[in-house]
Amino acid sequence: MNAVAEAITAQSAVTARPVDASAAAARDSHDRPLRDLRLSVIDQCNFRCTYCMPREVFDEHYRFLRASERLSFDQMMKIAQAFVALGVEKIRITGGEPLLRRGLETFIERLARLTTLNGKPLDIALTTNGSLLAARARGLRDAGLSRVTVSLDALDDTVFRRMSDVDLPVARILDGIEQAQAVGLAPVKVNTVIERGVNDNQILPLVQHFKSSDIALRFIEFMDVGGAAGWSNSTVLKAHEMRAIVETVFPLVAADRVDASATSVDYRHVDGQGTVGFIASVSEPFCGQCSRARVSADGQLYTCLFATQGADLKPWLGEAVPGEHLQDAIHARWNARDDRYSELNADRRRAGTGKSWPTVRMSLVGG
Ligand code: GTP
Ligand code: 5AD
Ligand code: SF4
Ligand code: SF4
Repeated sequence: MNAVAEAITAQSAVTARPVDASAAAARDSHDRPLRDLRLSVIDQCNFRCTYCMPREVFDEHYRFLRASERLSFDQMMKIAQAFVALGVEKIRITGGEPLLRRGLETFIERLARLTTLNGKPLDIALTTNGSLLAARARGLRDAGLSRVTVSLDALDDTVFRRMSDVDLPVARILDGIEQAQAVGLAPVKVNTVIERGVNDNQILPLVQHFKSSDIALRFIEFMDVGGAAGWSNSTVLKAHEMRAIVETVFPLVAADRVDASATSVDYRHVDGQGTVGFIASVSEPFCGQCSRARVSADGQLYTCLFATQGADLKPWLGEAVPGEHLQDAIHARWNARDDRYSELNADRRRAGTGKSWPTVRMSLVGG
């Protein structure tokens, strides 16, 4: 057992067993509930987005997790059950590119049989680059997936190819988005990371394209996450700057905020169906409401996207270990959580200092 696991065990020994459903909902040291689990099923991707998996680093010599190092779906089910028992209502399947993991639909079928503490169906979402989505959308829906979020950074083929570093046309991703919408994996969301001077000229074309659909388009500030190549303060186009660009052509009105822990601040078109959201992780951090836990494909629990280290859950995943013990270990870790990286980093930036330690790479922990 490693040091982190031992620490969790020691903590779990003093964690009282929950006696009823409401007491079971885990709270962290800032009183934030545990509501979302982001489960990465694979660390590989068929794209090489320059800001996430630059080809010169993630080349043929890069050591991705071997299949034997990845959690099995049985182990992931045990994890999902423990999180649901602690109050999780939404599970987002991430990667890498999750559709590269074989047997995903069967896993989703199993996940869809879980219910929340209140007896409601789980919200099961999937983040994908969309390249394999068109052919899989119906099967995913039939398996019980609730909705998809597709990453798409440009509408123009040249810009798209430059950013994703893959030889595919944008039409292939748009086809995936359309199929997902057609089979009802809704609301379909589209995530666009904006890098100043790289794809900010794509903001207006993307808004124009999705304006008359029911798609929720969200622009994300470029973050200094682990693995992010070429990040500097000057590459961040702030949310208010992006919105100003949109509003030069498309007037927006603020939409009602339905979920306090939502990452995006959403707007409606004055005349149009789609919504436009802005995820201001850098300029207006939202750590205060952060209810997200992440588990990487190799079974490490991260309580922040910017964590340096995870807590190894594998000691609790053996068949002989009761699920309650895993639940206690996660509960203890969440109780101790005091992460608020983006808020602290905003303070550091204002003071003129930057990030000073390496954090887990985005493609391993999931976005
Ligand atoms: P919904 O379930 O649809 O609300 O999805 P979401 O917005 O929680 O998840 P999604 O993966 O679509 O997140 C959009 C982007 O916001 C991610 O790609 C990240 O760039 C960023 N993001 C998500 N969660 C966090 C977080 O906890 N911290 C920070 N700093 N950024 C986050
Ligand atoms: N900053 C912001 N978003 C990022 N993503 C990946 N890297 C970054 C970054 N450095 C986004 C992807 C995808 C989600 C999983 O995370 O574009 O939408
Ligand atoms: Fe793959 Fe998404 Fe990373 Fe691009 S951002 S390399 S699509 S995991
Ligand atoms: Fe949550 Fe960490 Fe993101 Fe803050 S920086 S919102 S604590 S994941």
